[in-house]
Amino acid sequence: MNDIERMDKEYVFGTWAFQKAYNPKQIVDAEGVYFTDADGNKFLDFSSQLMCSQLGHKNERINKAMNAQAEKFAFMAPGFTNEARAKLGKKLAEITPGNLKKTFFSPGGTEANEAAIMIARWFTGKHKIISRYNSYHGSTYVSAQMTAEQRRWATEHGMAGFLKAPAPYEYRTLFKNAMQTLDYIDEMMTHEGDQVAAVIAEPVVGSNGILVPPPDYMPELKRICEKHGALLIADEVMSGFGRCGEWFACDLWNMQPDIITMAKGITSAYLPLAATTVSEEIAAHFDENFFNIGHTYSGHPMTVACALETIQIYEDENIIAGVKEKGRYLMDKLCELKEQHPSVGDVRGVGLFCGVELVKNRETKEPFDDYDAKIKGKPSVLAQVGGKLMAEGVYVVPMINTLILAPPLIITEAQIDEGVAALDKALSWADEQL
Ligand SMILES: Cc1ncc(COP(=O)(O)O)c(C=O)c1O
Repeated sequence: MNDIERMDKEYVFGTWAFQKAYNPKQIVDAEGVYFTDADGNKFLDFSSQLMCSQLGHKNERINKAMNAQAEKFAFMAPGFTNEARAKLGKKLAEITPGNLKKTFFSPGGTEANEAAIMIARWFTGKHKIISRYNSYHGSTYVSAQMTAEQRRWATEHGMAGFLKAPAPYEYRTLFKNAMQTLDYIDEMMTHEGDQVAAVIAEPVVGSNGILVPPPDYMPELKRICEKHGALLIADEVMSGFGRCGEWFACDLWNMQPDIITMAKGITSAYLPLAATTVSEEIAAHFDENFFNIGHTYSGHPMTVACALETIQIYEDENIIAGVKEKGRYLMDKLCELKEQHPSVGDVRGVGLFCGVELVKNRETKEPFDDYDAKIKGKPSVLAQVGGKLMAEGVYVVPMINTLILAPPLIITEAQIDEGVAALDKALSWADEQL
């Protein structure tokens, strides 16, 4: 470790980590799909940091837009508006599905989901919330209750009304198929006395393994919600803004949720901004009912100016249209790797949102690591695969048993080849661990 890294380790908490084992790497520069550490090592960003740097690093237009706003004024209280905020609100109404119209801005995806839950409870007058296992919805107290994986356990202190349903995890489901898990949710709502305010779902599950449901799944989930008088909240914090080859994953199936939450790609992660956009009916409810939420930084002028320019770049440079093709190119390469490496159990994904699930045994699907290896501080084969990739100059996020491959949407085929070549080597190491 160098002096900066040591200082950081001493004075700054590492997130989701045993502090003793946390060794942050100092980054000194980043441009396009690459970033550089303090020793001059250059890395291909094959996961867009935390699946958020959609346009890569050091984008001149975004930097200019942020500077231009800073030169006018950096901050005004949310009770004042400005050109960028009004235009961004309108733009989100245009690019989100169906009649989704009015937006509440917050600083991060976690808060966007918290707002969605409050809004759903106020609108329906009901209180129960269903989320699905193998999902992540945030890290504050309420959003952590909806998070249905090991990152919830430490904050689970008996908050009532948060129910969990099975995930559409085709590779590992106990059900006949993913669609059958919807019968379970339907049944669940009946047994909960139709007291469910909302079901919250990542349309394509992100950090819990890139789970793409069958095409009928989300439309059918919406129908079941309607049947029971519940809202459907689509958490598109990770899957939105072109990641899946459409503005939003919901667009893959032409379906409209009642509320959509987004963050990450809305500014390509240049500044922290999130949004909760609701349907016209829900928006109208608050004409006469108090909208009981706000943040100092709700729609912070710098962040909305940044988002507006980011979205303009997606449009001007036709970024999203290119994602499906690049995604198919990446997926073909991953399928080839699966043929060559027995440690690969499954590859799946849509657009530039792909996962490679590793297993000790293809027949039994026995995973390499325990589900909760990270929070128990157990050695992890997946983390070591991530380390091997870094040694090859490629950054990939390993989550539980899946490597998340979600490069910036501006990546070229040659750069995909570069990432895949490193993955090939790292998987050869994983094969030796069988
Ligand atoms: C699907 C999903 N929802 C919510 C969040 C929380 O967003 P944030 O980390 O910005 O609070 C994340 C973060 O990764 C996410 O992937």
